[in-house]
Amino acid sequence: MGIPTETVYGLAANALDGNACARIFEAKGRPVDNPLIVHISELSQWDTLVREIPENARRLAETYWPGPLTIILPKAECIPDAVSPGLDTVSVRFPAHPVAKAVISAAGVPLAAPSANLSGRPSPTTAGHVWHDLKGRIEAVLDGGECGVGVESTVVSLACNPPRLLRPGGITLEQLEAVLGPVFVDPAVTHPLAEGAKAASPGMKYKHYAPRVPVKIVEGSGEAYIRFVNGRACEGAAALCYDGDASELRVPFVCYGQEDDPERQARELFDALRRLDELDAKIVYARCPPPEGVGLAVYNRLIRAAGFEVIHID
Ligand code: TXA
Ligand code: MG
Repeated sequence: MGIPTETVYGLAANALDGNACARIFEAKGRPVDNPLIVHISELSQWDTLVREIPENARRLAETYWPGPLTIILPKAECIPDAVSPGLDTVSVRFPAHPVAKAVISAAGVPLAAPSANLSGRPSPTTAGHVWHDLKGRIEAVLDGGECGVGVESTVVSLACNPPRLLRPGGITLEQLEAVLGPVFVDPAVTHPLAEGAKAASPGMKYKHYAPRVPVKIVEGSGEAYIRFVNGRACEGAAALCYDGDASELRVPFVCYGQEDDPERQARELFDALRRLDELDAKIVYARCPPPEGVGLAVYNRLIRAAGFEVIHID
């Protein structure tokens, strides 16, 4: 079933039942080696899912759970292969959304839940997005309105030393380091995975978040961006831009928040990526925030949507 969380909608099933989890992969068309996050609604459930909970993990959870943070630790015996295929670890998250918490409590078991999109598509931030992608493949989606954070949870591994940030999200690197001390940022957060390299997070090796129309990031000042895009109007260009750019643009556009508001950008990004397909453009030129604070999460999703293609102007 599709369920709302504060990050994105998830496609949930009993995390302790390998067959139920296998159906998640089927519905999404998800590569079977991509592990699932296990969602809990009480801290006591965590103890049963992992081998042990080190002190730093405990402190991190006390500070940011329930919330948009996923913690990876060595897994307990009860974790089915489908959840952590070929891995010695399991990722666990305690969501803050009241509907997510209620569903997990009612189920009486932890729930495995990846984002409820077709594999490769932008993650869903409304029930409508879920239904658009998965209608006919799943029975139902619970409509909890728009997701507040809008990008998926921060994923940090505490199964290694120092801790490693695998996916940036609503809980920032700075917030993690305030509790954990230095955190290593996996190079795959901002760069393409080197040919033949093993992904610390299997999800990082797949093309992601892509609208059907190709996207390229344009780096430069706002004025230079507008000149650049307007100059390509006859080539079928469109813009994924900040709110303040709109009035100057002479091409179709989708805005995703103010330039200085990465929280808003995070909330709008996936819906904006989906709406780009309706513009009927040949190519989309996107503005992208600096990789700082919540902006790192926006940068990480956009650079993947763009297949790491960045054009530097001015
Ligand atoms: O906000 C979220 O985390 C949402 C909502 C529904 O909770 N869920 C979500 O799940 O984004 P998913 O499956 O779309 O992304 C999980 C990411 C994948 O890139 C996966 O490879 C990685 O986390 N992951 C999961 N378990 C892992 C593990 N044990 N070790 C390394 N990476 C893991
Ligand atoms: Mg996903």
